[in-house]
Amino acid sequence: MLPGAPFLERSEGRLCLQGHDLDALARRFGTPLYVYSRASMLAAAAAYERALAGRPHLLCYAMKANSSLAVLQTFAHAGLGFDIVSGGELARVLAAGGDPSKIVFSGVGKTPAEMRAALEAGVKCFNVESLTELRRLSEVATAAGRRAPVSLRVNPDVDARTHPYISTGLKGNKFGIAHEEAVQAYRLAASLPGLHVTGIDCHIGSQITRIEPYLDALDRLLDLVEAVEAQDIALHHVDLGGGLGITYTDEQPPDASELVAAMLARLDARGHGQREVLLEPGRSLVGNAGVLLTEVLVLKPGDAKNFCIVDAAMTDLMRPAMYEAWMAIEPCHVGDRPALTWDVVGPVCESGDWIGRDRALAVAEGDVLAVLSAGAYGMSMASNYNTRARAAEVMLDGEQAHLIRARETVSELFRDERLLPG
Ligand code: LLP
Repeated sequence: MLPGAPFLERSEGRLCLQGHDLDALARRFGTPLYVYSRASMLAAAAAYERALAGRPHLLCYAMKANSSLAVLQTFAHAGLGFDIVSGGELARVLAAGGDPSKIVFSGVGKTPAEMRAALEAGVKCFNVESLTELRRLSEVATAAGRRAPVSLRVNPDVDARTHPYISTGLKGNKFGIAHEEAVQAYRLAASLPGLHVTGIDCHIGSQITRIEPYLDALDRLLDLVEAVEAQDIALHHVDLGGGLGITYTDEQPPDASELVAAMLARLDARGHGQREVLLEPGRSLVGNAGVLLTEVLVLKPGDAKNFCIVDAAMTDLMRPAMYEAWMAIEPCHVGDRPALTWDVVGPVCESGDWIGRDRALAVAEGDVLAVLSAGAYGMSMASNYNTRARAAEVMLDGEQAHLIRARETVSELFRDERLLPG
């Protein structure tokens, strides 16, 4: 089964997303091209919502996974909130119609200007990660004549058992306030004039494929909730962050419904069933809803390696270069050629510029390949290295294929630069 099914399927040799022929979309809009299925995104969100139904809850899409306006708009219309990490993301989500009262603001280094903008917008909560941030936020809020709603991001010191670069809940990570210091930090927060304590949060990592680390983190968090409330500081919500993994190859992460059911059962078992639950999923809402289409420019067989050079690069999809991530690559149209083993690489001048290694593919120059499960941390991590303009994006909505981001032009890339005088 293809990762991304049932929205991604092969029909008479042709790869289709939400019923649209991907080869035809590549010819129509050009490559490299991101294509997303709106139905797939909405189905992923609905799975969380169904599991949370009947409970006070807020699903906050972690927009760093894919912050294109039409993606944000899709989730805003579905009633979701958002997890943001910068003033830039705040501006983006407001431009897409996001409801500010459903925004949580995460991140270890918020600037005073970002704090002011978020207060002005009226976000639901600041997820605070240090004592310095508590004091600074209180000052900024007091100066603005407001009280900032805060949750403390606690580092529960649990191992999410994922890639070290995307594991965030261990002691050695830069994130969160240490578990042992949290009660003290809450006392400080409760004493500062510009703050209003509303909750507690954690985020233990990304691409997590097991339920246990979440339950371990939840237990650690609930221990703290009890300790903090014993100090007469009320905590309204518990935010368990994001991190649920998706299938790139043969991973079998739990469904959102299984994960949520296990969390709710643990909350009930410990007598916290009435609390508002917040979740911040990113990848699991958009990852399998998107593909990156790329054309084969050159086939370069060699003694040691066969290289399949495509027009997408690490600039379009950073995950393989950065995390050695394995992403499935499928030809959009299966012909009757024999398969050879190829390293699928981009045109960027770096040996690290690869998309897939040692892949058995039946390809010819001019063919279009699809990199699967590319809806999360693809476009949002794209860069302009080698003065490469970023890809275009298309959103499939029913029968329609909407261009939601025009291909960047090279002149835009240096539009704001200046030559020296003389
Ligand atoms: N909440 C917080 C505070 C986060 O830092 C993150 C992701 C999320 C939620 C959403 O996590 P998700 O549900 O997407 O796993 N670029 C990497 C992933 C970095 C994740 C950073 N934080 C990748 O491509 O694998």
